[in-house]
Amino acid sequence: MAQFALPKNSRLTGKTRTHKAETAGTKKNFKVYRYDPDSGENPRYDIFEIDLDACGPMVLDALIKMKNEMDPSLTFRRSCREGICGSCSMNINGRNGLACTTAIEDCGKGEIRITPLPHMEVIKDLVPDFTHFYAQYASIRPWLQTVTPTPSGKERLQSPEERGKLDGLYECILCACCSTSCPSYWWNSDKFLGPAILLQAYRWLADSRDEMTGERLDELEDPFRLYRCHTIMNCANVCPKGLSPAKAIAEIKKMEAERLV
Ligand code: SF4
Ligand code: F3S
Ligand code: FES
Repeated sequence: MAQFALPKNSRLTGKTRTHKAETAGTKKNFKVYRYDPDSGENPRYDIFEIDLDACGPMVLDALIKMKNEMDPSLTFRRSCREGICGSCSMNINGRNGLACTTAIEDCGKGEIRITPLPHMEVIKDLVPDFTHFYAQYASIRPWLQTVTPTPSGKERLQSPEERGKLDGLYECILCACCSTSCPSYWWNSDKFLGPAILLQAYRWLADSRDEMTGERLDELEDPFRLYRCHTIMNCANVCPKGLSPAKAIAEIKKMEAERLV
């Protein structure tokens, strides 16, 4: 399902620049969102013609080739190039994903359109501003909270079953592909925590060692923070790690309901 929506600075009236490949292999065009606030110009799309025979297989390889060989001012985040750090999240042909794990050959026959994550403020080109997203993450206190002393000075143990409850949660790399594909988050991100942060919140609610379950549920019990999820399911559809924030949110709602009984 396409989740294409432009970033917030989306007056795409800047003049397109075209960068031609200099070698003679199989060509593919990439249409890339460009925005430099220091230039005073509106955002634009640039076209980069890439020789696929001289490029690695992933969308990130193409971006690195554009930057190294055609326009060094092209700006994007990346680090691990293997789907672990979450830095290279962006919108590729209308779908949020990681540039480093998205194969060019899986992007269809035509040109590939690359824009920043939808509905975010853009710092430059493909780099969205994560300040608010990280502040929301900090607000759920994403660490183990306890009141009892550590048993005989040792680590807090979990049974394999208790540890198993964190599967499908701990793998989240905070790429924000899910939150920025959620229409509820687009319209209410000032107050709705969004799927990524709610999945992280559930990660601590599900942890048998954590002793702040009641306080955590109190914090989430709010018409906006939690209940702005209307089960739209884009989040589960798009997660590059195969996780289901929608399921985690449903589990939180269940915990909230059960404590009323
Ligand atoms: Fe990214 Fe998936 Fe975590 Fe959302 S749940 S932030 S899409 S890894
Ligand atoms: Fe949004 Fe996912 Fe809920 S897309 S509305 S958080 S199920
Ligand atoms: Fe780390 Fe893509 S570069 S997830």
